[in-house]
Amino acid sequence: MCGIVGYVGARDCSDVLVSALTKLEYRGYDSAGIAVFDEDNNIKTVKTKGKLKDLVEKLEREGKPDGHVGIGHTRWATHGEPSDVNSHPHSGARVTIVHNGIIENYIELKEFLISKGRTFLSDTDTEVVAQLLDYKYNGNPLETIDDVMAELRGSFALGIMFKDFPDRIYAVRRESPLIVGVADGECFIASDVTAILQYTRKYYLLDHDEIATLSGDGVQFVDEHLDPIEKELKTADWDMEAAEKGGYPHFMIKEINEQPDAVKTTIIPRIKDGLPCFEECGITLEKIKDFKNITIVACGSAMHAGMVGKYVIEDLARVPVNVDIASEFRYRNPIVGEGDLVIIISQSGETADSLAALRLAKKKGAATLAIVNAKGSSIAREADMLIYTLAGPEIAVASTKAYITQLAVVYLFAFELALAKEKVSAAECKRLVSALMRMPEAIKYVIDNCEEKCKYISTKLLTADSLLYIGRRLDYALSMEGSLKLKEVSYIHSESYAAGELKHGTISLIEDCMPVIAVATQTDIIPKTISNIVEVKSRGAKVILVCTDACARELKEGVADYVIELPHTEELLMPITAVVPLQLLAYYTSVNRGNDPDKPRNLAKSVTVE
Ligand code: G6P
Repeated sequence: MCGIVGYVGARDCSDVLVSALTKLEYRGYDSAGIAVFDEDNNIKTVKTKGKLKDLVEKLEREGKPDGHVGIGHTRWATHGEPSDVNSHPHSGARVTIVHNGIIENYIELKEFLISKGRTFLSDTDTEVVAQLLDYKYNGNPLETIDDVMAELRGSFALGIMFKDFPDRIYAVRRESPLIVGVADGECFIASDVTAILQYTRKYYLLDHDEIATLSGDGVQFVDEHLDPIEKELKTADWDMEAAEKGGYPHFMIKEINEQPDAVKTTIIPRIKDGLPCFEECGITLEKIKDFKNITIVACGSAMHAGMVGKYVIEDLARVPVNVDIASEFRYRNPIVGEGDLVIIISQSGETADSLAALRLAKKKGAATLAIVNAKGSSIAREADMLIYTLAGPEIAVASTKAYITQLAVVYLFAFELALAKEKVSAAECKRLVSALMRMPEAIKYVIDNCEEKCKYISTKLLTADSLLYIGRRLDYALSMEGSLKLKEVSYIHSESYAAGELKHGTISLIEDCMPVIAVATQTDIIPKTISNIVEVKSRGAKVILVCTDACARELKEGVADYVIELPHTEELLMPITAVVPLQLLAYYTSVNRGNDPDKPRNLAKSVTVE
């Protein structure tokens, strides 16, 4: 979960590397560095603990390396604390590298190299790879890389410079993502295509164990046997503007505001004659009608989208749905197999645990469906069926527009499944689809009408030590996401609870002025949630209630301290609007506490390690 970049071309390499790294900081931001061949063909490395801006300051202070060939890195520490010395690039005598991923057998390789007299400066697994490359170097970089790859276990994307070859860089990957970009007379490597969109939209996806050589002559690829291969040139359809802040102070608030469009863009191409249509994704009524069990596997916000999916699919299609955390699913012996459907939800499509869960589900014979945002990512490529969420690039670490588009896809898929199972009529399905089509407008209404209120309420949360989010059914699924959002960006402890479960222990935590955020959007159970609110309120809690306007109208005086009203929509679809105030509360609490909501401490957006 680091970001790596590389460049060969006529531009100032240091500038290109730093500018590309700014687009990858979401992958990690506890240290950064670059290495460039200078005019004497020496590798000059500048690196530092801290964010990219600290590297930029260091480059200004010490002078940036002048050259046209180099590699760069932004780090999220796994082995060794964030420090100057643990920052990438790392070197052996004749080799310098940047690395994203984890080398699982680095200790045994390190011991071997120490027994051969090698010494190490850092605590990282990456330095072991650099030293191993140097140890095995035979004058032929491709053979050396191939030789070293055979020794490595784990995941890696590497950018490599050999001192003897100052006109080129090498790139290789296994499990961790890496793309190779090309433009006229220049080429790039990057963990993610957004890093190079300012220079080119043309790129190749490097496959596992393929090696790319980038030089003034362009890019050559070889497979694991070092045989030359041709690869398909792809064109990115995300533009630069989508990856820029466009006048907003943070990506998180920009992405919250992009949600109406993101949902619209995601659903419109999947609706035909008023009914869901996933034929372009290879999904037909015939293909899905016989699934008897569904398991949804994901991490973080994507898992919370899966929780909403459980309620909706079970309610409409009457198929039992189990939701599992990917890191749990992969290490037990899950009961999935032929005739079952396993749905993997992932924004990045590269989350290591979700990818492993997908592979396990396939091995067990289940059919797999991926709901993914990042085009061409590993999960997208490996699943049997694929529906892209068309949210565009999501840069802020805390997921907002990706989550809401995951909801949109989950809803449409649930409608389609209900139709396939003949649990809803075509007319009812059309009614649900048209209600979904009205949601982008409803989201916009909520942003326009609730933002100021959320901003104000967030000032009441600033000094809280701990919060509770409560709700029932869909409102509970949503509370989980609201609570995670707040934790991620504000660093205030919070928990989500099924409202009815509170009294079985957790209510003992309630003390004077403790904020409780209650979600109540499902008419039949609103009275139940209200009684839970009364229970916490009478024990001193400060209650913030997110509810429908109808519920607000009937609310007795004093039940809640603050009420955020949502417009009336199809009840089943309420999570799509109700999540918005929860996102806004988290965002403004983060900003008011002086945090950077786009880059919360200790987190990374794309978690390509276990
Ligand atoms: C990280 C991010 C979360 C995200 C989760 C799953 O933990 O910080 O925001 O929900 O990964 O990521 P994915 O890319 O699989 O959706």
